[in-house]
Amino acid sequence: MKLVQTIKELQSELDALRSEGKTIGLVPTMGALHAGHASLVKRAVAENDVVVVSDFVNPTQFNDKNDLAKYPRTLDADCELFGKSRGGFCFFAPSVEEIYPEPDTRQFSYAPLDTVMEGRFRPGHFNGVCQIVSKLFMIVNPTRAYFGEKDFQQLAIIREMVKTDRVQRTGNCRLSYCA
Ligand code: PAF
Repeated sequence: MKLVQTIKELQSELDALRSEGKTIGLVPTMGALHAGHASLVKRAVAENDVVVVSDFVNPTQFNDKNDLAKYPRTLDADCELFGKSRGGFCFFAPSVEEIYPEPDTRQFSYAPLDTVMEGRFRPGHFNGVCQIVSKLFMIVNPTRAYFGEKDFQQLAIIREMVKTDRVQRTGNCRLSYCA
């Protein structure tokens, strides 16, 4: 398992693999990995030649800055846990500056999907999720990406983003979901 922290390094690794015809699975996470993530990684490993697990606590999806400050950051434990998993994959753990060298002002609007339920109480949350997922898709250009079905509203919004903003904001990635 390889730990990569810059976009440049990740892309040069992935370009080489892609030129050999390898498929790439992406499992986006905010770290603090648990059994749910493990099942996503397991499926991604089974369906792709290479799997990238991103581990990035995305500040733009926190509408409450105290929640962002308190969010667990467990990179060492995450690396150790997934270092033991089988299958070829790397861990992408960029800094905030690497992902957001300047503020991301893009607006994603998929009403009513993002304005009801959790969206009503967490203004900007799903916009931040779309910002980072779109960025990860553009950086990794995965063959497939994997999301938990547990976060049902998030999944519905990401599906909509991939359907309506295909190529421009999400590339040509196919989505997969796991419980
Ligand atoms: O579900 C999560 O952990 C996050 O919202 C995601 C999709 C990794 C984006 O930061």
